[in-house]
Amino acid sequence: MPLTPMSDSLLYLRDLTVDFRLPGGMMRAVDRVSFNVAPGEILGIVGESGSGKSQILFSLMGLLAGNGRVSGQALFQGQDLLSLSSTALDRMRGVSLSMIFQDPMTSLNPYMRIGAQLAEGLVVHKGMGRAEAARAAIAMLDRVRIPDAARRARQYPHQFSGGMRQRVMIAMALLVRPALLLADEPTTALDVTIQAQVLDLIAELAREAGTAVILVTHDLGVVARLCDRMIVLYGGRVMEQGPCETVFAAPAHPYASALLAATPRLTDALTPRLGTIPGTPRSGGTMLPGCPFAPRCTVKIAACETEQPPLHPLAPGHDAACHLIGAAP
Ligand SMILES: Nc1ncnc2c1ncn2[C@@H]1O[C@H](COP(=O)(O)OP(=O)(O)OP(=O)(O)O)[C@@H](O)[C@H]1O
Ligand SMILES: [Mg+2]
Repeated sequence: MPLTPMSDSLLYLRDLTVDFRLPGGMMRAVDRVSFNVAPGEILGIVGESGSGKSQILFSLMGLLAGNGRVSGQALFQGQDLLSLSSTALDRMRGVSLSMIFQDPMTSLNPYMRIGAQLAEGLVVHKGMGRAEAARAAIAMLDRVRIPDAARRARQYPHQFSGGMRQRVMIAMALLVRPALLLADEPTTALDVTIQAQVLDLIAELAREAGTAVILVTHDLGVVARLCDRMIVLYGGRVMEQGPCETVFAAPAHPYASALLAATPRLTDALTPRLGTIPGTPRSGGTMLPGCPFAPRCTVKIAACETEQPPLHPLAPGHDAACHLIGAAP
């Protein structure tokens, strides 16, 4: 593994593996994924449905399904998130680690006024006085462009539209200025026309607060526009990772190339979605002995079916897991 903990890394993930127990046996959803997140950095994770994106975030938040088992290491501010007790994780969740879900109602309390919900985090976790916290909550609602924020703060979640609730959740996640924000397809439930605006807002507020973000998305246009680095995941494994500029300009892995080639022009006014590439995405179940992408790869060699390619370093911070890299042309 070329990856080592960097002295400046905020999150150091090493060999994160997620297995699910199923009636027919075990199924590996995430296979020895390693990466670093630097403070304030925005990291995009892309990959087709089922590639393991959500399970990476769930395991970091201690929210894996009951039949799931995680192994590996996730060092965050000196502690391994994977071995923290639920109490310790709870404490961390409110202060230095936040998550934005697809459905805002997952994190909003329907019986509590919006302003009070936002202020609570500041009172409980930051020791702020009630009046000061209430003022900060209103200012944040204003920041996420909720019109008439002072009046809206006295309302309940059901009085907000879906889009407005999503903004409230973003406000709540970022108000405590967490060191790391985990966002899993945070706008898919929203109208397409406002998705880009809301993502831009997340990035803007995170940059302002110095919050690092792991953003899971299907949308390569979003990655190109907002992320510093990206990870391309397939079949639970990292196929390629690197600075967005480099990966977009010269993807090294055949899967990453196919994904980018199949995506409509990044300059299109409409944000491009992941394109379709030939073949069927790997469905959960048997782990192949070789590269998970081999069955769909048009340039594979014999070793691809039998041996797992390790991540080859291409440049500092840019790696790809493909047998063809470094092989004679
Ligand atoms: N509780 C579970 N039991 C068994 N398998 C599961 C469970 N939860 C998820 N999986 C499987 O784990 C794999 C990875 O799932 P994950 O939700 O991380 O995919 P994803 O990349 O987030 O996909 P999407 O883009 O559709 O959200 C999938 O094959 C999925 O079916
Ligand atoms: Mg998902």
